[in-house]
Amino acid sequence: MTAAGTFGYGTEYSHLFDIQKLGAIVCKGTTLEPRDGNPQPRLVETTSGLLNSIGLQNIGVKALIKEKAPIWANWRVPVMVNIAGETVDDYAQLAKELDGVAGISGIEVNISCPNVKAGGAEFGVNPESAARVTAAVKSATSLPILVKLTPNTGDIVGVAATVAEAGADAISLINTVKGMAIDIATRRPLLGNRTGGLSGPAIKPIALSMVYEVASAVELPVIGCGGITTGNDAIEFIMAGASAIQVGTASFVNPRAPFDVLEGIERFMQKEGIKDIAELIGAARR
Ligand SMILES: Cc1cc2nc3c(=O)[nH]c(=O)nc-3n(C[C@H](O)[C@H](O)[C@H](O)COP(=O)(O)O)c2cc1C
Repeated sequence: MTAAGTFGYGTEYSHLFDIQKLGAIVCKGTTLEPRDGNPQPRLVETTSGLLNSIGLQNIGVKALIKEKAPIWANWRVPVMVNIAGETVDDYAQLAKELDGVAGISGIEVNISCPNVKAGGAEFGVNPESAARVTAAVKSATSLPILVKLTPNTGDIVGVAATVAEAGADAISLINTVKGMAIDIATRRPLLGNRTGGLSGPAIKPIALSMVYEVASAVELPVIGCGGITTGNDAIEFIMAGASAIQVGTASFVNPRAPFDVLEGIERFMQKEGIKDIAELIGAARR
């Protein structure tokens, strides 16, 4: 799969590559109203990583349903819509609007957004608020729901367990790791928003250990994400317990990355004589 926010709406790439080969496309995080996002600069490269503070710039759910879903309805590759809200009601409303729309195969719930009602802490940092969002989305839609966990919590296994109980169909992890960079000449933070989310190869070991822990704790399918750049990276996540993976930041360096990862997985399986990827899921936990 492509990771939310790193592959647009898929439409930007459909004339360049055979995107129908992918397992799924997860589109840019979508909110009830269109958003311009955070002040620039919003991207800073770091050692082996990328800091971003895009701030959920997006066209809003109504435009997505009107302009993007009809295109997706003609694709073989399933498209999931990543949703974000500032209140539990926002999430429920988004899920309701997406329910039954042709071209939309699932919802990925981004719980890394500040909960405005609870003073700005991310929904995903504590099990109770994460479960409230999950339950609200589940009851508002018949679509399958993936809940995407944030690593910015001390209790990712606790969050995963309550989200599973609250009705998630699968869990994806991880979102970006909170970070910052400072310009020593101006003595100011480099990002307009001061802090942002770190992604790319720098976070891969963190993501891998979290996938390992969560996959050991819940029965649901786990989708691994964080720094995956090659097929071998993907195989590591599968061996940690992921049933599927997402490619994010790697696409900014190499727009073919999701396809290279897919081909890399196939090469590894051929080399090892593996017929079914399921043989590898959780191999490192046995
Ligand atoms: C520029 C950018 C925008 C992102 N936007 C979203 C988003 O809208 N919703 C979301 O859940 N995650 C978003 N993410 C997080 C990615 O989907 C992914 O979880 C994270 O970057 C880790 O994977 P990676 O190291 O392969 O990029 C974004 C990441 C980047 C770099």
